[in-house]
Amino acid sequence: MRYITQLWTTRIARLALAAAIACLSVASARADVAAMLTVDASKPGVAIPRDFFGLMTEEINHAYDGGLFAELIQNRTFQDMGPRPNPGPGPRPGPPPSPVPVHWSLVGEGKAATDRNEPVNPALPVSLQLDLASGECGVANDGYWGIPVWPDTTYVATFYARGGGGFAGPVTASIRTDAADLTVAKADTPAVTSAWKKYTLKLTTAHDAPTTAKARFVLSARGQGFVRFSFVSLFPPTYQNTPNGLRPDLMKLMAELRPKFIRLPGGNYLEGGRFADRFNWKQMIGPADQRPGHMGCWGYRSSDGFGLPEYLLWCKQLGAEPILGLFAGYVLNGDHFKGGSAEMAIYTQEALDEIEYVSGPASSPWGKQRAADGFPEPFALKYVEIGNEDWFDRSGSYDGRFTQMAKAIRARYPKLKIIASAPVKSFVPDLYDDHFYRGARDLTRMTTLYDKPVGPPPPVTFNGGGHNGRQPDGIKTFVGEWAAQEGQPTPNLRSALADAAFVMGLERNSDAVPMECYAPLLVNVNPEDRAKGYPKGWQWNTNLIGYDALRSFGSVSYYAQVMLAQNQGDFVLPVQLTEADPTVVVATATWDKAAGTVIVKIVNSGPTPVNVALDLRGVAKVAPEATAIVLSGEPDAVNSLDEPTRVAPRTEAIANATANLQRSLPPHSLTILRLKAAT
Ligand code: AHR
Repeated sequence: MRYITQLWTTRIARLALAAAIACLSVASARADVAAMLTVDASKPGVAIPRDFFGLMTEEINHAYDGGLFAELIQNRTFQDMGPRPNPGPGPRPGPPPSPVPVHWSLVGEGKAATDRNEPVNPALPVSLQLDLASGECGVANDGYWGIPVWPDTTYVATFYARGGGGFAGPVTASIRTDAADLTVAKADTPAVTSAWKKYTLKLTTAHDAPTTAKARFVLSARGQGFVRFSFVSLFPPTYQNTPNGLRPDLMKLMAELRPKFIRLPGGNYLEGGRFADRFNWKQMIGPADQRPGHMGCWGYRSSDGFGLPEYLLWCKQLGAEPILGLFAGYVLNGDHFKGGSAEMAIYTQEALDEIEYVSGPASSPWGKQRAADGFPEPFALKYVEIGNEDWFDRSGSYDGRFTQMAKAIRARYPKLKIIASAPVKSFVPDLYDDHFYRGARDLTRMTTLYDKPVGPPPPVTFNGGGHNGRQPDGIKTFVGEWAAQEGQPTPNLRSALADAAFVMGLERNSDAVPMECYAPLLVNVNPEDRAKGYPKGWQWNTNLIGYDALRSFGSVSYYAQVMLAQNQGDFVLPVQLTEADPTVVVATATWDKAAGTVIVKIVNSGPTPVNVALDLRGVAKVAPEATAIVLSGEPDAVNSLDEPTRVAPRTEAIANATANLQRSLPPHSLTILRLKAAT
């Protein structure tokens, strides 16, 4: 491997190593491979940037709607019609479309249909009319693959309602289980009137309520006439009890990754399939019931309840800064405008306004809007990215589009760092964003990709070009999306080890690659529901954190990334690994200044244990108490809702540690050793 190596190993040292390994006290069934790992703590090298680890996100796999955004009602504005029942095999035509929107169904004898007359406001063009009959009549929403029920839990329901045809009674909101139709929580509005009015109700489950996601939310009434509903919402408790807030379990998992930035809002989602469906941030601010929503590019509508203020809330609650992706006049179907066009002037102004919304003072026009949306304090913003993966734009228009936007941004915000998503020649960006999706074997080999090239650097390339950060132009690389892609819908251990090796290589080269983030971050793992005609929850196969309505789990890769994020260190230390296959055993080391700790990170992606003899140099003393954190298991193993920690790190205390520690690395493992040392 082309590690930075100023160290050498003598023949005598190798013989000593062989002797040492022969009498290893660590039990090992098959001591097939032996390796020597020399770490020199006296030569701290690259300072690892504080911002190195981040998250990448977009609306894919129901990341927000049906994921992080805690809203429980799917199709809350009734704009998606359906349901779309699967007609089954054979040439039979499917049933006619239902007048009841998808994810909604009838309760009792009445009728329901969408209505476009006299909407609440232009952003909510569709309401649902429930015609009452005898007995209780209602409409039920089945949520995002179920409404989650927990005991002792208070939900907040909000909706608009108005009565007609003589109806002026109360509306009952309830949560009911599918099996046994058990009502676990309910509350009534006062008598509704013939004018639209917004109602807010609290629904609390009892101590003996079941825990289940097989439940639905029902709005019902009794009497004559009809009731119309608009913008129906239901929230469980949210992270830090924020209105319109986020799912606590997912926030907790993300916090463990200690992200310093969140790259948002995409990804393809920034661009959209068509111009009408791009990330149009001005439609995603202000009160939630004034946001029209739009078709996302991953096959489903985005409610845009998770809009720009919610992205910022997310950053704030995780202590991260946004890396703000700016729409750059190119959409996924290839349509685009040229630099200098009137349209690009509009998008450039939109981008300037967006930057002001995020980071301007509350006295500025868009800062004032942000304050009205709940965030009086400006957000720290150091980076913006113009476009996404513009190497797909074969027309060559990116240079013009980028340059027009970059010049305007630089003139107004000279301190902002500007990231380009493809090669440009007319304006020098601060960073290039490059992406790597690979098989596990390939990504493992890419651990050396950014090492200083021997000889002249190869030309700049994208979509996994890899050498860009080492070009003579000095433009660094942001690896803004990457992953090993084995395991569905979350990666297996083989992928996780490749991911770890890749990130260790980036960290070692963080002078050239100062920031990185895995992608995609979130996945709703619900399978297809053929009976109801619902597709599966995800569109991308390999994702970091999985969940359904009730539960969540970190993938194996998630745990590898948590291990690395929590054991970053401040400086890279030079290492030399000998006697091991460098495509199988991968090692790096860093120095944590505040903790006075040498952190050694070793991947063994092979099927046999590897006995490693550490030779830690440049330290005066090593404390006898050290720690090993180990992730290992079967290479095909994945975590899941039912086995959330099938492969998860375990921490072991090491007694009597010395600078010449010996250790057996399990097959298919990531090991992190923490040794307190005085230099
Ligand atoms: O991460 C999934 C997709 O991969 C992103 O939307 C896109 O940028 C990339 O091609």
